[in-house]
Amino acid sequence: MALSPNPFTPTFGKRPHVLAGRNDLLQEIEYALRTGGGDPNLCSLFVGSRGVGKTVLLSYVASEAAKYGWVSANVTARPGMLEDILERATEAADSYVKAQGRARLTSITVSALFGATWEYRDPKSGNWRTRMNRLLDTLEEHGIGLLITVDEVDPTLSELIDFAAVYQHFVREDRRIALFMAGLPANVSALLSDKTASFLRRAAQHQLGRIEDEDVAVAFRETIESSGKTIEDDALNEAVSAADGFAYMMQLVGFRTWQAVGERDVIEKEDVFRGAKSARNDFIDGVVKKTCEELSDGDLAFLEAMMPDGGASSKLADIAKRMGKTANYVRVYKTRLLEQGVIAARRRGEVTFEMPWLYEYLVEKV
Ligand SMILES: Nc1ncnc2c1ncn2[C@@H]1O[C@H](COP(=O)(O)OP(=O)(O)O)[C@@H](O)[C@H]1O
Ligand SMILES: [Mg+2]
Repeated sequence: MALSPNPFTPTFGKRPHVLAGRNDLLQEIEYALRTGGGDPNLCSLFVGSRGVGKTVLLSYVASEAAKYGWVSANVTARPGMLEDILERATEAADSYVKAQGRARLTSITVSALFGATWEYRDPKSGNWRTRMNRLLDTLEEHGIGLLITVDEVDPTLSELIDFAAVYQHFVREDRRIALFMAGLPANVSALLSDKTASFLRRAAQHQLGRIEDEDVAVAFRETIESSGKTIEDDALNEAVSAADGFAYMMQLVGFRTWQAVGERDVIEKEDVFRGAKSARNDFIDGVVKKTCEELSDGDLAFLEAMMPDGGASSKLADIAKRMGKTANYVRVYKTRLLEQGVIAARRRGEVTFEMPWLYEYLVEKV
């Protein structure tokens, strides 16, 4: 008998079957896309650590936007992104018109709309801004807005800085345009400190973090049940606690558990134990190690000074003492690590490890 297809999606950038949580945020964004105009959410930054669900959110929002009359150009911040925005926008506009064509534009053919009149297809006719203006004009004539999404914000990419500068003009010119960007906290804050990109400081910043346990539970259950299995209550609780509110971890736990269950229809606690164990290793490889590689020596020294507290909360005063540094020095690293979603500060003067398995990984490493 064939095994039923595994419905979990532990792959970066892959849309999950059920999007867990994020309801309030999505509502805000949806409202902005519906009303348009000066809503500050039309220029939004999604910020969070690796695996938190930024890319998925960008692609979800882009596909929702189509319902409200926006076409989207989805790109990654890398050399060539400006050309890519033009190409993707054209492509999206073409397919939007094809889809809407029958209902709204009965007498006009797609090629009449987007073929002959769209000179921006000729790369020699004007610079990027000129060609974008032409594209935006044409879209506007048909009541369509352009949403640009930029993933993996990279503050060292000059094209991104140029883009931000030009985008500012589109906003000033009152164009029907929206921009959603996503990136790791350190990269976003570096971008915002660039003078040329300073207008982005006014963008709505959305910190993505843990998803509520109840939302994770609902998403687990729906994903499982829509794919022909069920899960026992205590097994579900176990899965939720293993996921620990982390989007990527949730998919890993689900995926590995589904593997452990094999052909059986009911997921039991034992299956989740086995699944969570392999998920933990995947998570360390995919997230924890990579995050540690990106930390500075000072960041790592700070984390090391937290270790003697055994993974429970650490007092900043103790950390300073162990590092042999002043409170001010320590505060700098605390802020950096907080920003990166590595630690959390739930009580005054104290910090805890925020990223799952980070403490365990560091224990094993030293
Ligand atoms: N809201 C969510 N609910 C459930 N799974 C999610 C959610 N957001 C992301 N995921 C899953 O988490 C993983 C990481 O998502 P991704 O968007 O690539 O993260 P990021 O871009 O922040 O590194 C993927 O496996 C994806 O399927
Ligand atoms: Mg991503």
